[in-house]
Amino acid sequence: MAGGYWLHCLLTILCSIRTVHSKIPQSPVECTVSGCTLSNAYGAWGCSALNATYPTTEEQLRSAVSYAVRNNLKAKVVTRFSHTIPKLACPQDPTLLISTENYDSGIQIDAVNSAVTVDAGVGLRRLIDAVEDAGFSLAAAPYWEGVSVAGLISTGAHGSSWWGRGGAVHDYVVGLSVVVPASESEGYAKVLRLESRDPLLSAAKVSLGVLGAISKVKLSLEHRFKRSITYNFTEDNGIEDVYIDHAKQYEFADITWYPSRHTAVYRYDSRVPLNASGNGLNDFIGFQNNPILVSEAVRGSEKLFETKRDTNGKCLTAATTLAFKKLVANGLKNNGNIFTGYPVVGFQGKMQTSGSCLYSTRIDTSCSWDPRIKGLFFYETTAIFPASKVGDFIRDVRKLRDLNPQNFCGVDNYNGLLFRFIKASSAYLGQPEDSVVVDFNYYRANDPSDPRLNQDVWEEVEQLAFFKHGAKPHWAKNRNVAFLGVQQKYPKFNMFLSAKHKLDPQNVFSSKWSDDILFGKELEKFDGCALDGLCICTEDRHCSPQKGYYCSHGLVYKEARVCRYSPSSTSSSSSSIG
Ligand SMILES: Cc1cc2nc3c(=O)[nH]c(=O)nc-3n(C[C@H](O)[C@H](O)[C@H](O)COP(=O)(O)OP(=O)(O)OC[C@H]3O[C@@H](n4cnc5c(N)ncnc54)[C@H](O)[C@@H]3O)c2cc1C
Ligand SMILES: *[C@@H]1O[C@H](CO)[C@@H](O)[C@H](O)[C@H]1NC(C)=O
Ligand SMILES: *[C@@H]1O[C@H](CO)[C@@H](O)[C@H](O)[C@H]1NC(C)=O
Ligand SMILES: *[C@@H]1O[C@H](CO)[C@@H](O)[C@H](O)[C@H]1NC(C)=O
Repeated sequence: MAGGYWLHCLLTILCSIRTVHSKIPQSPVECTVSGCTLSNAYGAWGCSALNATYPTTEEQLRSAVSYAVRNNLKAKVVTRFSHTIPKLACPQDPTLLISTENYDSGIQIDAVNSAVTVDAGVGLRRLIDAVEDAGFSLAAAPYWEGVSVAGLISTGAHGSSWWGRGGAVHDYVVGLSVVVPASESEGYAKVLRLESRDPLLSAAKVSLGVLGAISKVKLSLEHRFKRSITYNFTEDNGIEDVYIDHAKQYEFADITWYPSRHTAVYRYDSRVPLNASGNGLNDFIGFQNNPILVSEAVRGSEKLFETKRDTNGKCLTAATTLAFKKLVANGLKNNGNIFTGYPVVGFQGKMQTSGSCLYSTRIDTSCSWDPRIKGLFFYETTAIFPASKVGDFIRDVRKLRDLNPQNFCGVDNYNGLLFRFIKASSAYLGQPEDSVVVDFNYYRANDPSDPRLNQDVWEEVEQLAFFKHGAKPHWAKNRNVAFLGVQQKYPKFNMFLSAKHKLDPQNVFSSKWSDDILFGKELEKFDGCALDGLCICTEDRHCSPQKGYYCSHGLVYKEARVCRYSPSSTSSSSSSIG
């Protein structure tokens, strides 16, 4: 073991002595005498605010909003997790941050009506464990458990299912309490109780935090059940022909596509009776507690491949990573400890959502993206397609892949392209029809002005999704360019805006940052803006001509404008395809 450790250090030259304490994720809000800073869990941004407050009850939450309104401050609700990628929660002007970190105790189960009412700040894992203990299951949840109940519904978070109410958690919301600004005579803030038939509930279920402060969420439950999961690692022909049947056949189906490996992984995942034998656990490999040295070594080699433009190196690690995932079934564990074979059967509460890195008790392990270590740093693009449109997108990506499969090793080092399913929703900022959600992660440079290997390919896939095939951006993910024109993509966008006008006419809960996302504003372009996804290039200077990246057209989608590497300005653009 020790030999392996030192070898690691020598290989990665990352061996250093650190003074660190426990590696559970750090608090996203930090205050000093001069004010507070909010950052997200990846450390991808930090925004400053005037002051922060930590209510523990609904009345204290109401009084915090009242304080902000009375003093002409803006307000932003933040959580203990802050796992959203865009700057939705970022404050502006003098803002009071209202954290739900300590408003996290109430979980009331109504067994007769199969429903649960929770305080806004309750963490997803606590909620799941509480309802399972009472003999119920939450049918839908995101795959990652490091989120609060109000935070996750506010951005439309989802798992995967076309059955029943579907894979999105907000489609299980049957009531919501929200604190909104009020007149002086009402005490400057009041609690609205929205019941299931209230049209305002359709606005408030997915609200990006801009309607008011959610205090309680009521979710419908099902009787406790088990699931049986098998992953089929197979060839990637014909995903576009089978995804609809796959989603109809398996209640919790998903598909992961590794384009460079010509591999598709079909998740056969169905509900089984409670008495089916098995006590399995889905400890998804990407969310496991990793030795910090390993996370840093992975990042170190990824960076090295980037600076050396070493595609082969990336392809080698993509191949090893996929082989390892297959070996360990992505982290499924039959008995809670190891994978011994398919199918893996376990309780819904243990099979849907995971995040064991959240509970690190050691100083040398953490989530692989913890900003306090030199670990992973990546973009996450998440595009939501009407079900019938995703086939054409897959065909275009396949064409791009076939030009040079190696160009896709970068995404295959993460999780390839993950396809999940959600049903039509009544939420104004939810999906108007049954949809397919496609996620992919890719290398993000620590310095936003550093171009990335194959960045033209990711940009083309991004523009294929959002502009050619009309996908909508997941509210909690994506780079700013994905939100361009988002208003026109939601048929009920104006109904959302009128609800916002009614509940928060002074825009207390809005900021420049959340407006940029909600209204999909095109920002003024500046040198290098396309590298960080803040614009689409129209001139070379929006890329990085000094580092050999020029604004070029897409290879499959000619209308796309991407930053492509060209070793010398005289070489033809096709030389960079290879
Ligand atoms: C590793 C990882 C995996 C993920 N996996 C998935 C997945 O499988 N599926 C998926 O859909 N998403 C996924 N996500 C995205 C995640 O579900 C969302 O980012 C979620 O919104 C985060 O919740 P949070 O509690 O951290 O909220 P925050 O990021 O803190 O807040 C999100 C928004 O909600 C607002 N908000 C929070 N609480 C309140 C409140 N009480 N009242 C009003 N507004 C409020 C905030 O102002 C902000 O605008 C993942 C994210 C990560 C980091
Ligand atoms: C911060 O906000 C709280 C209200 O929650 C208020 O009581 C306190 O005085 C504020 N502090 C400062 C320095 O503004
Ligand atoms: C895996 O998928 C392939 C292609 O769809 C299929 O031919 C094969 O039978 C599947 N294997 C299992 C074990 O279901
Ligand atoms: C599970 O329970 C059902 C009745 O509810 C019974 O028919 C079935 O045989 C049981 N299965 C097992 C594996 O015990």
